[in-house]
Formats: sequence, C-alpha cells, structure tokens
Amino acid sequence: MLPTPPLLLVVVAVLLGGVCSVADNSGAEQIHLSFTDDVTTIQVTYSTFQPVKASARYGTDQPDTLVEGSSTPFAQDAAGTHLQYINRVSLPGLCPGERHVYQVLGPAGWSEVFWFRAIPEGSDWSPRLAVVADMGTNPSTLPFLVNDTREGMYDAVLHVGDFAYDMFTDNGTKGDEFLRQIQPVAAHLPYMTCPGNHEQRANFSNYKNRFSMPGGTEGMYYSFNMGPVHFISISTEFYYFLEYGFEQVFSQYNWLRADLAAANQRSIRNVRPWIVLFGHRPMYCSHKPNHACTEWHDRLRVGEDEFKPALPGLEHLLVSSGVDLALWAHEHSYQRSWPVRDGTVTDTGGDPYRNPGAPVHITAASAGRSTDKKPENLHWMPWTAYRSSTEGYTRLSFHNATHLTIEQVAVGEDGAASVVDTVTIIKEECFT
Ligand SMILES: [Fe+2]
Repeated sequence: MLPTPPLLLVVVAVLLGGVCSVADNSGAEQIHLSFTDDVTTIQVTYSTFQPVKASARYGTDQPDTLVEGSSTPFAQDAAGTHLQYINRVSLPGLCPGERHVYQVLGPAGWSEVFWFRAIPEGSDWSPRLAVVADMGTNPSTLPFLVNDTREGMYDAVLHVGDFAYDMFTDNGTKGDEFLRQIQPVAAHLPYMTCPGNHEQRANFSNYKNRFSMPGGTEGMYYSFNMGPVHFISISTEFYYFLEYGFEQVFSQYNWLRADLAAANQRSIRNVRPWIVLFGHRPMYCSHKPNHACTEWHDRLRVGEDEFKPALPGLEHLLVSSGVDLALWAHEHSYQRSWPVRDGTVTDTGGDPYRNPGAPVHITAASAGRSTDKKPENLHWMPWTAYRSSTEGYTRLSFHNATHLTIEQVAVGEDGAASVVDTVTIIKEECFT
C-alpha cells in the first residue's frame, strides 16, 4: 500500500475544486518544464493573460541568473477569444544532477520559487518516470502523482496524449484548468508529451501552442535521451486525421527510421541500450473486438494500402530496430502484453521478460478519464498478460543497462493507492 497524500493537501485540493496549485500574485500560471535537445538546458513554458517580457531567474542556490525568452499570443480563433500569451524561456548551462531553483516573470511580478533537478550526464544512472494518459481534469490519480513528485520519485513524466477532454473546450479554459492542475508536477519535472485524438481540433492547435517539445516539429514527433534510455515520441494521429496532411505520415516514418538507425549504431546502443517509443493509439490492445488494435489489419501496425502510396505500418520497423518497450494509451485501462511481434507472442513461459525477443506493449490510459469497467469489454487476446480497469498510472524504473521495472499504481474506490502489477524486463542482449 502506498502512503496516502497528506490530509492537508487533500483538504486544500477539495476546497479548490481539484488539485490546483495555490496561485501566487504574479499573474504567471500553467508553469511546466520540458527537455530540450540539450540535456544541460531545460525549457519552462507558462501562460499570462497580459503581455509580459518572458523571463526567468534560476540558479542552484538562489534564482539569481536572469534569462529572457519569447512570448506568443494564443487564442482559440481569429477573433482572439480568450487571448493568452504562451511564454517560453530556456534555462541553459545547468549543473548535471543538481537541484536548481527558478521563478518566472508575470505581469504583476515574479512567481513563487520552484525547484527541479537537472538530469545527470552520460548513461550510467537510473532514470525513473511516471507515465499517464487520458487524464482529464480532477483525476483521482493526481494527488498521488503530486505526492510522488514531492518525494522526488521521478526524473520526468510522459503524458501519452488526451489531456483535458478537451483543451479547446469553453474557449480554451478547459486547457487552462488542466495545466493549472498539473503544475505541482509539471513545474518540477519535464512533462513530455505526444498528441492524442482529443487534441485534434484545428490541427492540434492547443497541443502545439501549449507544450514545448524538442525536435522542431511542434511536438508531433521527436526523441530525447535519459541515461541509458532513448525515448521516441510519435503522433499516431497522423494516421487518422489525414485531412491535416497525408505527407506527415511519411515524414514521420522517414524520420523514425533514421532516428532508430542512429540509436542503433553499435557505439551508441552499447551505452544507451534501451529504446522506448510512445504514441497515443495502441497497435495491440486487449479490448472488445472491432477496435483497430484488436484487428490483424491495424493501420498503425501493418499500414494501410487503400491509399496510394500506401501508409507505412510501424511494427516491422520497431521489431527490426529492437524497440524494447512501446507505451500507448487511448483504450481506457492499463494493459500489459507479452512480448509480441506480428501478432505472435514470443514466449509466455517461465521467464518471458528475460531477453524477450520482441517489444513489450503497455497501454497506460487509466489516469482518470472514464476507465472502462464493463466486464464485457474485457477481451483477452493472445498477447494479453495483464489488464486493470482501475484508475491509475504507470512507473518506469530503468535500474541499469539490463533491468527495467514497470509498475502499475491503482487508485481504488476507497481512495487508497497500491501497486497492482509489477514486471521486470531483463535484457542481456538486444534482439535486433
Ligand atoms: Fe484517445
């Protein structure tokens, strides 16, 4: 059983109608961090409702180094409805592995002081991450994520699409509400994202404007490194919202192929052996039939030849590149697969996660949005190893070059959290 968040925190959260951070008087809000292409630089993104010279102060002891960034007006529509300013400031020259403090400038002054820990250099350390998706506002999981963050359990968070249901709702105030609520996590940990189907409005406008991911693709696909892990974020939505650009599927595929080839150069894979890919819609799932991810012809997995040229599927690329773990969302539950390729499980025997020989697929979509509790929707597929419909979130602990532990934390109806699933992948050799 996990420790319950402090009672005072829960009481304050309830009084505020959710797990909001307590706002200061600076006028800066929705403060969140993200990695950049340089591990010694972190980016802080925040909103204001009046123009401001985007700025931050930071340091290891005191927030005494001033840096300036850029500010972009953002509104739901051309009429400027609910206009806000998205402010982005990079914090360069971080001391690897050290705790830093920072604050940002709002129209009424400096914000409260936040902290984060810059990740260590090199590959010889043990990253820990939380994985959430399909969260919405006021989820039962958030107080536990806040508590975990305060206890220093993680180095980053992955949010695998579907954020606020939906960020554009009520002229974008739903997106503001969501980002205010996650601030107690995202102001302290890089909050790394990929787009989900609920972000598709206006060609993913809210997603592209509100988050600041590396890679120069407005956060649609990119990669980054943490210690012994190469993380890859993709847009599965390119395959379904073709009205926003057929060619995006191919641009992403070609980029992914090149990124995986680079990660697989022997000198690189030897020191960074883990490859983890995350995207919103799963290519395998354990849901009721007629969902794409239960079908042999799943578009993301095998491609789609009804178009000319045919859309390229991703599974063969993932398998041939030795992707160890694929993280998905969208189907509102937690699901863990056996190692699987081409719809065939490599092993369900005594030790299937030791040198698994194929990617393991996790669907981590139970963070809050209407988890699917109908027993008739539980459909065990040949690749199904575990499934939970209880609200929760996933933890990844990369102990070293050979051991990765995955935990699922579930928040029961009694409000208590416990670890309900644990598996360790042991990789003594790559399977490419
Ligand atoms: Fe979704």
